[in-house]
Amino acid sequence: MRILITWGSPHGGTEGIARILGEALDAAGFDVTLRSAEQGRGIDGFDAVLVGGALYAGRWPANVRRFVRRNVAALRRVPVYFFSSGPLDDSASRSDIAPTTQVAVLMERVGARAHHTFGGRLDPNAKSFPAREMAKTMAGDWRDPAHIRAWAADLAVELPEAKPGVAVDHPARSLRRLLGYAVVGWALHAALLLGLQSVAPRGVALVAHSVLVTLAFVALSWRYFHARGARDPLPTALTFVGVVAALDALVLAGVVYRSADIFASVATTWLPFALLFAATAATGGVVSTLPWPKPEERHHGDDAHAHP
Ligand SMILES: Cc1cc2nc3c(=O)[nH]c(=O)nc-3n(C[C@H](O)[C@H](O)[C@H](O)COP(=O)(O)O)c2cc1C
Repeated sequence: MRILITWGSPHGGTEGIARILGEALDAAGFDVTLRSAEQGRGIDGFDAVLVGGALYAGRWPANVRRFVRRNVAALRRVPVYFFSSGPLDDSASRSDIAPTTQVAVLMERVGARAHHTFGGRLDPNAKSFPAREMAKTMAGDWRDPAHIRAWAADLAVELPEAKPGVAVDHPARSLRRLLGYAVVGWALHAALLLGLQSVAPRGVALVAHSVLVTLAFVALSWRYFHARGARDPLPTALTFVGVVAALDALVLAGVVYRSADIFASVATTWLPFALLFAATAATGGVVSTLPWPKPEERHHGDDAHAHP
């Protein structure tokens, strides 16, 4: 049975866990291939896949998320297992730690069968910020080889009979929903701009517009990101800005003002663009670290449903 183990590991700790898993499964008679997510190839020819990621603020590195996203269809056809590395204490060896929201959503997308959290490693000489600050109090290697091998032993028993898990589609991820939110955001921005310009002096109107646009996009993206499976903060923020800029060019410059002068004004255009981008990206970042709300708190209609 051919098994691919792949990982996203900015500082090598998670790669070490993947290698221990690989050695243990190899010793148990499986044909194991180890490959970092950065190598970016597909999963053709493999009968099962293990995907691991280091946790940074509750999130996996972009390269391993990209690997999962690009291979959703293929991963849905084989048994898939996820593992995370993170806690800088012995909590992962003492108890089962559930996947973070972001990792749980990725698991649902590909129908991953199970997830395991292992202790992490933080180099005392870490150079980058904020790792350098964290290392002053939390440096150490909490990867527990016995714990890692024990999970590999469980997998070795399960894998030969394992079937793909049940995948879930997330309506909240749809392009239509993303563009719909962007258009609503643009409508708020345009209505505020035109409304304020008609009742207040130019300077006051532009300052009030910048403040209110920022608040409007915090509220809008708060709602957007709260639905399970919503897109990542950065692409969402880029889409919002792109749609607002396009509609400004088409409607405000093309129809309302009949002039492209608004694009020459930092206060009318470029500052609000920068603020709405920052408001969306920051709100998305905050929401992605929150625990997932209970079913009764979700927005109606945004619920995920199992893939047929
Ligand atoms: C800035 C920063 C944020 C972190 N955030 C988390 C976290 O949210 N949850 C967690 O369990 N561990 C967290 N950790 C610990 C890392 O996941 C741990 O160091 C991990 O082993 C790093 O893996 P790598 O060496 O493969 O990059 C964080 C570490 C750093 C430096």
